[in-house]
Amino acid sequence: MLLGRGLLLCFASFGLLAHARPSQRQDSYINPVLPGWHSDPSCIQKDGTFFCVTSTFIAFPGLPVYASKDLINWKLISHVWNRESQLPGISWKTAGQQDGMFAPTIRYHDGKFYVICEYLGTTGGIIGVLFKTEDLFDDAKWSDPVIFRPNHIDPDLFWDDDGKVYMATHGVTLQELDLDTGELSEELNIWNGTGGVWPEGPHIYKKDGWYYLMIAEGGTGPDHSITIARARSVTGPYAAYENNPILTNRGTDEWFQTVGHGDLFQDTKGNWWGLCLATRTGPSLGISPMGREAVLFNATWNKGEWPVLQPVRGRMPGSKLPLENRNVGGRGPFVSDDDNYSFEQETSIPSHLIHHRVPRDGAFAVTKQGLEVTPSRNNMTGKLGAELDIELSGQRGLSFIGRRQTHTLFKFHVDLAFSPQEDGQEAGVTVFRTQLDHIDLGVVRLSQSQLAFRLRAEGPSSVPETTIVPVPENWTNEPIQLQVEAASATHYELSAAPVGNSEARMIIGTVSAKVVSGGQGSFVGSLVGVFATCNGAGSELDCPGGGKAYFTNWAYNGIAQQITADEFSYT
Ligand SMILES: *[C@@H]1O[C@H](CO)[C@@H](O)[C@H](O)[C@H]1NC(C)=O
Ligand SMILES: *[C@@H]1O[C@H](CO)[C@@H](O)[C@H](O)[C@H]1NC(C)=O
Ligand SMILES: *[C@@H]1O[C@H](CO)[C@@H](O)[C@H](O)[C@H]1NC(C)=O
Ligand SMILES: *[C@@H]1O[C@H](CO)[C@@H](O)[C@H](O)[C@H]1NC(C)=O
Ligand SMILES: *[C@@H]1O[C@H](CO)[C@@H](O)[C@H](O)[C@H]1NC(C)=O
Repeated sequence: MLLGRGLLLCFASFGLLAHARPSQRQDSYINPVLPGWHSDPSCIQKDGTFFCVTSTFIAFPGLPVYASKDLINWKLISHVWNRESQLPGISWKTAGQQDGMFAPTIRYHDGKFYVICEYLGTTGGIIGVLFKTEDLFDDAKWSDPVIFRPNHIDPDLFWDDDGKVYMATHGVTLQELDLDTGELSEELNIWNGTGGVWPEGPHIYKKDGWYYLMIAEGGTGPDHSITIARARSVTGPYAAYENNPILTNRGTDEWFQTVGHGDLFQDTKGNWWGLCLATRTGPSLGISPMGREAVLFNATWNKGEWPVLQPVRGRMPGSKLPLENRNVGGRGPFVSDDDNYSFEQETSIPSHLIHHRVPRDGAFAVTKQGLEVTPSRNNMTGKLGAELDIELSGQRGLSFIGRRQTHTLFKFHVDLAFSPQEDGQEAGVTVFRTQLDHIDLGVVRLSQSQLAFRLRAEGPSSVPETTIVPVPENWTNEPIQLQVEAASATHYELSAAPVGNSEARMIIGTVSAKVVSGGQGSFVGSLVGVFATCNGAGSELDCPGGGKAYFTNWAYNGIAQQITADEFSYT
């Protein structure tokens, strides 16, 4: 394991406090239950614990597994893809910003957990990856993948009663899959959906003598939906339900849009539940920096009948929820937790902090001076055009680490100690979606050794002019606190202050969240975190010497979730 992630000595206090609260049943709950960028959820229940996995594209570690006992509090317990050696060399060669690990499916069978997924954008095209473990709570126990060669995306995994194992994919197609060799049988086209584009994200369930085939249709934008068909044999013929779609918010003015691509499972009492993805934008689909998030809905599925799914809203009926229970194994944190890491007491990097592709060895380390980030030649922007393969591929590394923006309103700040030795060396905070859309506030050494705050952004629209503000002379001996605050749902305010003197805070600029909203149907969502770069100086893989950045007192505070066009739920 590259980064020495492991047990933290010092947990955020929030989780401990929550244990002390008496268990209570809630009349309602708030969506999303996996807030922030969590698309294409697939979930199961095993022995009273629910487990979900989501898509992560080129983020690394990827394919997070969340565990919950009450469907509301979800703890990060491992990443399925957690070491370079599982897929050697693949990550660094992936140029496409939304390639990588597409929609996974998680299933349990006969003592083992399986996550099946596909990696897009390798030099040889799509590869299928099947990971196995007997212990979901431990990164190291996730196997290297069995590789297979699919023709379509979004693999499902289904065991029939006769022991045969099937993979359904986009289309919808069905193939038998050998779990040891990855060998696939001939493709069978079993359903085309009800006419929407992209019949994808299939899952097969067997119930009361029927094979149910539930899929997503209409594309992951405004027409997204869930539809279903059933057959008496796994190979078909499948007959569509007459009341499809069984779940969608298309054509409505609901705050939660693009509802679709989900999975169904039961709790220990036999109640049915599902998670699917949604974006919180209202019908304008304008501003959605968190991208596609995972929402929970209850369902009724009576014997021999079709499932009925509860429409997705911000506030949902919760009377059948399991009792609140945060006593989940594994390291965490819970997805809605705040961060409070001094990086002077911790001995390793918290598991929910992720990178854009596999990082270079040694680029991130927890030291006595804080989280040390060795600069990359790449800044947060990738170059298009002739140099696309080099600059966007990440071969030169991208010294970025961050967490998901999980709240509509939040405050993130971190203290930076930085003594650049060369012009162009820079370190700071960023709201990052891809190398093509991000908002960075850096401390940079300009010519004549002048230190300045530089706010610059890349994106498809609403990109402000770059702002450069000299760092006041008397600030430069102490660490500087850099802050990103979403004080409204539509804008980020980026500011700086000498540590311990927030009265002197300077607002460097305010930037529209449209910059990191990706447009309709985009796959990924925003991360907030830190970076260090020498902006292209140096040669080969290395920056000129110096320019290491040390970050301490990393704090993320979630303030509110927007759950309707005009209602915020404060934490
Ligand atoms: C799906 O559509 C194709 C093209 O129209 C058709 O040939 C095929 O029979 C359809 N498949 C099913 C299972 O209905
Ligand atoms: C969801 O739960 C609520 C309250 O428990 C119930 O009234 C509603 O019928 C359920 N919806 C479905 C689709 O089962
Ligand atoms: C973080 O934890 C420290 C003590 O461990 C505490 O003094 C500080 O107030 C906390 N900060 C936030 C933002 O909660
Ligand atoms: C820097 O100097 C200004 C004015 O000279 C003063 O207001 C400010 O408090 C000083 N800041 C620090 C960090 O000492
Ligand atoms: C750094 O960022 C700027 C603007 O975002 C971009 O024009 C430039 O090419 C980048 N340099 C490198 C080396 O990535």
